[in-house]
Amino acid sequence: MLSTSDVLSQLMRRKPGYSLSQDLYCDEGTYKADLEMIWYREWLFAVPAVEVPKAGSYVVYEVGAYSVVIVRGNDGELRAFHNSCRHRGSVLCKTHKGTNPKLVCPYHQWTYELDGKLLWARDMGPDFDASKHGLKPVHLRVLSGLVYICLADHAPDFDTFAAVAAPYLAPHDLSNAKVAFQSTIIENGNWKLVWENNRECYHCAGNHPSLCRTYPEDPRISGITEDGKFPDVVEAHWNRLESSGAPSRFIMDDAQGQYRLARMPLLGASQSYTMDGKWAVAKKLGAVRDETPGTLLKFHYPTTWNHFLGDHAITFRVTPKSNMTTEVQTTWLVHKDAVEGQDYDLKRLTEVWEHTNDEDREVVENNQRGILSPAYEPGPYSPTHESGNLQFVDRYSRTMIRAITGPVASTSSIAAE
Ligand code: FES
Ligand SMILES: [Fe+2]
Repeated sequence: MLSTSDVLSQLMRRKPGYSLSQDLYCDEGTYKADLEMIWYREWLFAVPAVEVPKAGSYVVYEVGAYSVVIVRGNDGELRAFHNSCRHRGSVLCKTHKGTNPKLVCPYHQWTYELDGKLLWARDMGPDFDASKHGLKPVHLRVLSGLVYICLADHAPDFDTFAAVAAPYLAPHDLSNAKVAFQSTIIENGNWKLVWENNRECYHCAGNHPSLCRTYPEDPRISGITEDGKFPDVVEAHWNRLESSGAPSRFIMDDAQGQYRLARMPLLGASQSYTMDGKWAVAKKLGAVRDETPGTLLKFHYPTTWNHFLGDHAITFRVTPKSNMTTEVQTTWLVHKDAVEGQDYDLKRLTEVWEHTNDEDREVVENNQRGILSPAYEPGPYSPTHESGNLQFVDRYSRTMIRAITGPVASTSSIAAE
């Protein structure tokens, strides 16, 4: 198992333009370093806010050694707490989601208010101070209906990303959405392989027959290029959509390389991710009124890529579960008043990405298995199709090197939020 300094030296020695070393994808020490340097420090997309719809609703999100409860209070606010009782540490919420009027520990029934205050603890003696035993908070921000958390004591800046992303997300009106379907799959591959597979469509023609009906594999249209040059059809798409009030132009986080937003056309006259390319939902989510609005592509490392369409939205959440296991949770959001069987058919809504996720799982697992061979050596990325991979591994390496060698980034403290 690599030590953190071994990880650093492998990162420093990597060959630019090539995939990472076997150890950086597979080793348990690298996984531990990834958790500590990235996952425990950065803002992580957790759930769409509508998944926690009413007072007392909660969702548990587990990241590495942490378990976090995201709960809506009686005041309507979402808060996040460590899922660990302040008595002797039992998990509070045993199930992944549910609704409770209070948070009651299953062990000795210490009872917490939905805002984390300890309300009741039996026979703790006259000197016991309940106010010192509230649940430990976790940083939480809601960005246009998307809930992000940060496990660090001192969270890095979120406002810059939020200011850029909010206008793009606003027309999609996620506050008026509901969860139509959610799938959670496990891919037997390192989380970075899951991301790298997402960042290129070099593999699409050979693996995604359903998706390729509507999604262009041309990297300049699928929004992967970062050289600033886009075909006329994309420029025309942006001009049309922006004049109708939907921010669309490609924007990349140049400083940190953490996120990208771009509203890209689908193939031909395609309207949505369906087998025939026509709308999936009659009662549309959001205010983008165009017959071919394409898809707002958003990614934000390390947890999420999303598609916001003219009729529905899909969020994807990537969570590492071990050095070679990754959970991918996909959530289909439709208008809260859309009625299944009337406004949409669930199979029609979900089949393209259900197929695509399964196909991606298979290619990621094949990739992982091949990298485990002693014969594996890092291979070159295609400059045409895999600039997204290059961007991902460069950002990963830069972030890891900075985190291992430098002080923890700190611009705000939890007390200030
Ligand atoms: S551990 Fe929670 S009440 Fe005892
Ligand atoms: Fe894919």
